[in-house]
Formats: sequence, C-alpha cells, structure tokens
Amino acid sequence: MSTDPSQKAAGPVLEVRDLEVHYGPRRRRRRALHGVSLSVAPGETVGIIGETGSGKSTLARAALGLVRASAGSIVIGGEDVSAYGHRSWRALRRRGVIQYVFQDPLRSLDPDLTIEASLAEPLLIQGVSRQEAATRVRAFLSRVRLSDDLLDRLPGELSGGQRQRVAVARALVTEPRLVILDEPVSALDSANRVQILQILKELRADGVALVFISHDLGSVAGVADRIAVLYRGELVEAGTARDVISEPRHPYTRLLVRSAPTLHSAPADRAEREALRALLHA
Ligand SMILES: Nc1ncnc2c1ncn2[C@@H]1O[C@H](COP(=O)(O)OP(=O)(O)O)[C@@H](O)[C@H]1O
Ligand SMILES: [Mg+2]
Repeated sequence: MSTDPSQKAAGPVLEVRDLEVHYGPRRRRRRALHGVSLSVAPGETVGIIGETGSGKSTLARAALGLVRASAGSIVIGGEDVSAYGHRSWRALRRRGVIQYVFQDPLRSLDPDLTIEASLAEPLLIQGVSRQEAATRVRAFLSRVRLSDDLLDRLPGELSGGQRQRVAVARALVTEPRLVILDEPVSALDSANRVQILQILKELRADGVALVFISHDLGSVAGVADRIAVLYRGELVEAGTARDVISEPRHPYTRLLVRSAPTLHSAPADRAEREALRALLHA
C-alpha cells in the first residue's frame, strides 16, 4: 500500500517520549534528561528555554542522534529512530529532513570551504546537480539578507552575524521539515540577534518546523508558537507562548518571566524575584 504523503505530513515532525539521557561512566553516571516528552507539529516553532546546564543541548543532540538516549523514544517524521545506530543516524541527517544550527556557526561551517561550497554541500549530498545547487543557493541568499559577493569568501572572512546567517541558510537550503537551533542568537550582538529572529519568523511562515533553544526567554518569546521549559533535566512546563508568558505556573518559569526585561514595561519586582528564587532552592 502506498503511503499518503499528506497524511504523513499531518503527524508530528518530532515526537520525543519519556526521554532519558545519562552522561559519564557507569559508576559516575549523571542524569542529564529525565522523562522528557515533547511533540513538534509540521510548521510549528517550539521554543525550549532553561538555564545553563538544564539539558537543552542534550535534548538537541539526542534529537539529532549525536548523543544516545538511555531510555525513551524519538520519532522523526513518523520514523522511529530510537534504535538507530551511528550509520542510520548519519544517513538520516544526510537526507536533509532534519537540520541544525548551533550557537557557534564555526562549528557548523567548514573553515576551508567557501560560503558557496558550504551552502551547496547539503544539496550535492542529496544528489542535486551542481548547476541546480548553485541556482538554489543564490535564490536563498536574499532570504537570509546576504549578498552574492560573499559566496567566494571563507567563513573566517565574514562577521559573526553574517556567519550565523550562512549557517541558517545552510540548514534551510535543503527545505528540511525540521530545524533544531541551539542558542542561535546567544553569541550575537543585539542588532544581529534581531535580524536573525526576524529571518526565523519569515522562514517559519514557509512551513518548516523549528525547535528554537535559548536560555533567554526574551529571544524565544516573539518567535515561538509554543514554549517548553527545561529545569534540571526535566520538562517542567509547556504551553502556548502566550500562556507560558502570561500565566507561568512553575516557579522557575515565573522567575524567567519576571527577569525578562523585554517582556515587561515595568521593571521586574526585585522582591518577587528573590522570593521565586528562594522557592526554587528550597
Ligand atoms: N559530554 C558531556 N559529558 C558529561 N556531561 C555532560 C556532557 N554534556 C553535558 N553534560 C552535562 O549535562 C548537563 C546538561 O548539559 P547541557 O545539555 O549542555 O545543558 P544546556 O545546554 O541547557 O546548558 C549538565 O550538567 C552538563 O554538565
Ligand atoms: Mg547548551
């Protein structure tokens, strides 16, 4: 029986169930994620926020097959990838269904490849012809506000903001169904941050699903449809961005909301922040 692509598209692009990740050797095993469940619908942007060390990057790496889950399941585009080995994950990533952007674009860009070669590479891996890859790369540049003068430069010859826009373009040029962005704006100055957030908002309108990870609620707030909050390896809260911001339930989320100056006209009440902190550490 042939599968109906429209039906397949209706299911979640990413479904994580009861995910458990540990680091370290057996005797000193430390739990980085515990019982994390999260579903991302086609075209949806899910923000994941949490403080440093809460397990955000671990979740991203698990969903990309870069770190092994010790329990739980991961389903990508209807395909259960939980038991995948190294090679199957690599093949899945190469198919371009799921892509990623990291905080430091130098990690996702080969320093010895020109920008043009970097952008064409994921297409060439998929078997797209050189000519068509060149056309598609050029067509994509304006969407990330880059000019074609940059195409024959090396990553080291670009500014940090330009490099991150190249990394975003590289992740999106294969038209993936899902892109995981781990702190994509955290290393940028405010003008570049605003520009990337604007670009993400526009790309979101094209129907790609985004998982946008940040320690900064303010960055995620304007882009995400839904927000999930990680705290010490557990997902403590999830809901529509509006609900999470206007009626945060978990003390940690309340602290985040009160501490995000851009979400409030009045400065956050210091006494309230202290009280929330005390609650968390009780
Ligand atoms: N490769 C690793 N080996 C051992 N521990 C790690 C490794 N990566 C992360 N951790 C630990 O796992 C926890 C979660 O880290 P991480 O997922 O990087 O958090 P975040 O991205 O939210 O800052 C932290 O306690 C961190 O020290
Ligand atoms: Mg991280």
